[in-house]
Amino acid sequence: MTVYAIIGGTGLTQLEGLNIHRSLALDTPYGAPSAQIQVGEYGGREVLFLARHGHPHRLPPHQVNYRANLWALKQAGAEAILAVNAVGGIHASMGTGHFCVPHQLIDYTSGRQHTYFADDLEQVTHIDFSYPYSESLREQLVAALAAEGCAYSSHGVYACTQGPRLETVAEIARLERDGCDIVGMTGMPEAALARELELDYACLALVVNPAAGKSTAVITMAEIEQALHDGMGKVKSTLARVLAG
Ligand code: HPA
Repeated sequence: MTVYAIIGGTGLTQLEGLNIHRSLALDTPYGAPSAQIQVGEYGGREVLFLARHGHPHRLPPHQVNYRANLWALKQAGAEAILAVNAVGGIHASMGTGHFCVPHQLIDYTSGRQHTYFADDLEQVTHIDFSYPYSESLREQLVAALAAEGCAYSSHGVYACTQGPRLETVAEIARLERDGCDIVGMTGMPEAALARELELDYACLALVVNPAAGKSTAVITMAEIEQALHDGMGKVKSTLARVLAG
């Protein structure tokens, strides 16, 4: 049976209902992951859980040690990763509370440790990344969202920005011209590192605010936190449904 791991984003630093059997404090050649990996039962099967920003939430998107996180999950036996990401909505259909299971991404980050092939030139492998997400995992997420009665899009292009600041109106307009539907700060290099480690990977994105310029209001943390709070129940039931298979 495939071993699933969940990477929880902002608003999901712990998975209530996860029946924890053990916590793994792992070290990796790249340093320590954001938190201990919890091993437990969720949706009726064993699953690994890692809080991307630490537990409690302490690491901003550009300071997450993505290499250590993915390495540790692989070490713990993960084969398939379900990543949860809060995003801003760019496309008109991506209103607050909407879910998206992106099929493509564009990486606008800079200066992050983004590969395991950094040091030894002899060992550099140019992984195929044409389709950054696992189609099979995407289908499982989409089926679960449908069964949960969520408002969702089964496709979308995820723009990953550097943060931690939000974008300017012009930046969002550019992302839109580039074909991006949603924008977040944590989708990369996570997805690419998963591919380098040959882990299946898909993203469950929850829209928590209209991206800059997509509403007349100033984007506030209070609004984002409220949307996270409102959406997390559906995130959890969707994940449980995927795991229950
Ligand atoms: N931009 C980038 N990342 C985000 C946003 C946003 O508007 N909302 C949540 N994460």
